[in-house]
Amino acid sequence: MQSFVLSRDAAHLVILQRIELASPRLKKIRKLFGRYLFSRIFSKYLINPKVISYNYYNVMKNEFLTIKEFLNDNNKFLSIGSGMGGLEVIINNNFKESSFTMIERNFVSKKIRYGWDNKNSEAYNNFKLLEEFLQKNKIDQKKYEIIDYDKQKLPPRKFDVITSLYSLDFHYDFEIYRGYLSQSSNKNTAIIFDTIRPQFFKNIFKFVEIIKEDNNTLHKSKRIVCREFI
Ligand SMILES: C[S@@+](CC[C@H](N)C(=O)[O-])C[C@H]1O[C@@H](n2cnc3c(N)ncnc32)[C@H](O)[C@@H]1O
Repeated sequence: MQSFVLSRDAAHLVILQRIELASPRLKKIRKLFGRYLFSRIFSKYLINPKVISYNYYNVMKNEFLTIKEFLNDNNKFLSIGSGMGGLEVIINNNFKESSFTMIERNFVSKKIRYGWDNKNSEAYNNFKLLEEFLQKNKIDQKKYEIIDYDKQKLPPRKFDVITSLYSLDFHYDFEIYRGYLSQSSNKNTAIIFDTIRPQFFKNIFKFVEIIKEDNNTLHKSKRIVCREFI
């Protein structure tokens, strides 16, 4: 059985980042008691970290398979809103020479809404737990860096692959990172993210390809790979 090493505290955040990992019982409790109690208490204490770990591994393995053809060894990865880093762990297991830059936010919103947030004010991460997760799941400390979106300058480097799963353009405005993405990519960089408006990106990038369709969720989003800013 393949699984991650995941503490209860980290499993709690994984539930907030990936609501599909909450059991039907937990989702019912969220409806009954509201988002505040769900975000703070129930999603931490009414879960089985072992089950979440196993399910999170499988979800991330499937996400990895959707982007695998765009990855190579030696790649420099940038991840915007990496969450707990499960995808990065699986990429690292498959492409041993890769390096990872993760841009995240170091706080957990009081009430998670899981919607579009045009104020860019919502986040659900904790850098101590993120570091712990990456190390327990065997990404060498020398191979990753975590950047605090709210406090640090974004690294002025080019990346081979940039991913933002269910984060940029899905929860907050693409414009926030547009300038940075243009500086940190070259014409071969694959920029992969989820959106409900794939056609719009044909005005921004020379190449846009849909690689996954999510028709079962409320948002009906598409995962796109974009290359070369126009
Ligand atoms: C829905 S979760 C998805 C996490 C992960 N990509 C996954 O697929 O499991 C969105 C993540 O984006 C992060 N986030 C929110 N605003 C952000 C911003 N402006 N820059 C970087 N990350 C952000 C949140 O903290 C959260 O971890």
